Parts: sequence; C-alpha cells; structure tokens
Amino acid sequence: MSQRFVAQSEMPADAPRHVAIVMDGNGRWATARGLPRPAGHHAGVEAVRRTVEAAPALGIKTLTLFAFSADNWRRPATEVAALMALLRRFVRAETARLAEAGARLTVMGRRDRLPAGLAAEIAAAELATSGGTALDLRVALDYSARDAIVDAAMRAAAQGPLTREKFAQLLAGGDGSGEPVPDVDLLIRTGGEQRLSDFLLWECAYAELLFVPRLWPDFSAEDLAAAVAWFAVRERRFGGLGAADAQEPAAAVSSAA
Ligand code: FPP
Repeated sequence: MSQRFVAQSEMPADAPRHVAIVMDGNGRWATARGLPRPAGHHAGVEAVRRTVEAAPALGIKTLTLFAFSADNWRRPATEVAALMALLRRFVRAETARLAEAGARLTVMGRRDRLPAGLAAEIAAAELATSGGTALDLRVALDYSARDAIVDAAMRAAAQGPLTREKFAQLLAGGDGSGEPVPDVDLLIRTGGEQRLSDFLLWECAYAELLFVPRLWPDFSAEDLAAAVAWFAVRERRFGGLGAADAQEPAAAVSSAA
C-alpha cells in the first residue's frame, strides 16, 4: 500500500466523512470462477487495500469495514478458519504501512471468540497505529450492532442521565469518556443485496444508503470515487427541508422525512 494521504484543507467539502462498507459478494466471485469460497475472501483483501488507499484523497476521514459478523460463525469451519487466517495476515502485513501513512486501525466487536493469535496481533496493531490522524480505519470483526447497542446500554445503566452524545461515546467502547462514534454519512453495500445485516444500526440513522451490484473483489478506487460523487449530490435533510429549510422552524411538532 503506498498511501498519498492528503491534508485536511485539500479534502472535498461535500465528501462523506464516515463511509461504512458491507463487503459482500466474495463467495459468488469465487464460485463464478470455479474457485473455493475462501479465494473470494483472498481477492477481497486486495479490494480492501485499494479502498483504504483511495479513501483519504476522497475526503473520507473514517472508514468502517464489515469483515466478519457475529452471525458469520454459522459458516463452514473451513471458511471461517480461512477468513481468520486472512485477517491475521492482513493485520501483520499492513500495520507498519498503516502507521507510516497515518491511518489508525481499530477493531470493533467481540475479541473473546477470536483465535488467540489474531486477538494479540490486533491489540499490537491498534497500539502501533494509535497515533494516526489521517484515516480512522475501523474493522468490524465478530460484530453485531444489536449486541453493541445492548452492551453500551448496560454500561449506560451504571451511569447518570443519558444523552444521544453520551450513548454514542459508550457505543465507541470503554467507559464513555472517549470519542463518540461518528455518524455514518454513506453506507455502501456491494454484491447487490439491499439490507443492513446488523451493521452500525445506531450510527446509520441518517446515512445515505448505496447498494451496488459489483461483487466486493471487483470493487475499485473508481467505484469508491463514484460512490462519493453520488453522495455529493444527495440532498440530506435530516428531517428538515434541506437547503431551503423554513426560515422560522416550527416549535416542537416535527416529522422526520
Ligand atoms: C461477504 O461475502 C464477505 C465476508 C463475510 C468477509 C469479508 C472479508 C474480506 C473482504 C476479507 C478481509 C477483510 C479485511 C478487512 C482485511 P460473502 O462471502 O457473503 O459473499 P457471497 O454473498 O457472494 O456468498
């Protein structure tokens, strides 16, 4: 990976700051080529590299990738093992380059069910890249949004009064004193399916959703740029009237759109 991370001042103003991707279609990509499914995941790693490399220049500050859901344990043991081995290789191979490029890697989700070696390498990679400010690269691994929300709610119960902001901080992990999880601006799902699959349900409250037929291993830097361009012309209203918002907002009666 040879990142050319750009200065904040050069970033497009209307770029999605937080992009989340459901990287779907690896299995179909492999099957279409007469290859075993893990070959699709292997090719998917290259698409991850391309995406991480292209993101900063497009104005993306936070990139969250869905690598393995809490429900993916239902897959055949051989496929799960291949995925875990791939993830371990990725973390090992990319840590130094990510650190050099100023990307901070964090992994969301449960750690206790991961192979011990992988969990340790993740912890080391997070530490090695913790100073990165050019790109927040978040990888969701053994992740379930509903579990994350329940977990944050349980931690919230031990605290005082709760606000949305405080809850977002709790959702980011720890005791809630850290940075909140930024809302997702643009969610992309490759592979043609149109569902969220328990990914970032809180953070996607007002995300623009883009479902593309391209299978993940074929996803290119141009596809990412096209998604960002699509986002740039969306009118985001957040329940108001957008650019033409009423001059005098009505009082408490509101209806989201
Ligand atoms: C979904 O495609 C994809 C996954 C469950 C795994 C995604 C993992 C990678 C792209 C590789 C490693 C990731 C990182 C961050 C290095 P699928 O297998 O469900 O495809 P299908 O719908 O065609 O069967």
